[in-house]
Amino acid sequence: YRVALLAGGDSPEREVALRGGAAVERALKARGHEVVRFDPPRDLPRLAERAAEFDAAFLVLHGPGGEDGTIQGFLDSLGLPYQGAGVLGSALAIHKGLSRLLYREAGLSVPPGGLFSRKERERIPSFCEELGYPVVVKPATQGSSLGLSVVKSPEDLSSALERALALDREVVVEKFLRGRELTVAVLGEEALPVVEIIPQGAEYFDYHTKYTPGAAREICPAEIPEEVARRAQEAALRAHQALRLRHYSRTDLLLVEGEIYLLETNTIPGMTETSLLPLAARAAGLSFEDLVERLLEMALE
Ligand code: DAL
Ligand code: MG
Repeated sequence: YRVALLAGGDSPEREVALRGGAAVERALKARGHEVVRFDPPRDLPRLAERAAEFDAAFLVLHGPGGEDGTIQGFLDSLGLPYQGAGVLGSALAIHKGLSRLLYREAGLSVPPGGLFSRKERERIPSFCEELGYPVVVKPATQGSSLGLSVVKSPEDLSSALERALALDREVVVEKFLRGRELTVAVLGEEALPVVEIIPQGAEYFDYHTKYTPGAAREICPAEIPEEVARRAQEAALRAHQALRLRHYSRTDLLLVEGEIYLLETNTIPGMTETSLLPLAARAAGLSFEDLVERLLEMALE
């Protein structure tokens, strides 16, 4: 096939997307596909002109402008199929505050917390007192833990809000739950084996830990009781459905005293060499190339 590979973008996760894009390009070429690369910050007019040359687009874009439905709408308008969530699913999943509502509606648990706009900022300190510290403050729509802070005491709240509000108009504030970090990918109609992430040293799976080989141990299948693994997989599938996603996704969870709490769902999960979806796929018997091929087939279905 002829594939338009959209990789990069201008969100703060650009570097991650470029690394994933390079890996996906190698895989597509190894499987005999023709690949032309486009970087959305500059190449959208060129893609629009050449759209008829391609069978499909393949997206390796993370965060606002790539994973939020805007590019998806653009490709829909061009009539070019692509892997992963459409406009609505992308827009719902990128917003951690709205995702929380839909998870709950689907009967899933989320950490106690709330969503606040810039204008509602003055309500946040008392909300945090009620939740109890430590709390997590995060921009509603960023990925890779960018702009995220774990706030241990009220004095540190205001700088954390500055950091998060620099990246978004809305913030999610949640109670910081101490637990095991799990992630479950969905591919097609099925959940892949559960991954456990054990940050080495860091308090949680932050940006550095996510993209520095060796900074975390990623164990797949996770060493948890089978019954817990089944519940985690069931939760990821339900999250996938609740957010109106298709083809694939990866939901991040916390396991706290046997209970599963949902944190967020990624609609274009990372594809770098340390990324978690490729790891889970391998545990299910799919090589990186197999995974990319499968996603391309789903785009073309
Ligand atoms: N947002 C990054 C790319 C991930 O979750 O994989
Ligand atoms: Mg993410």
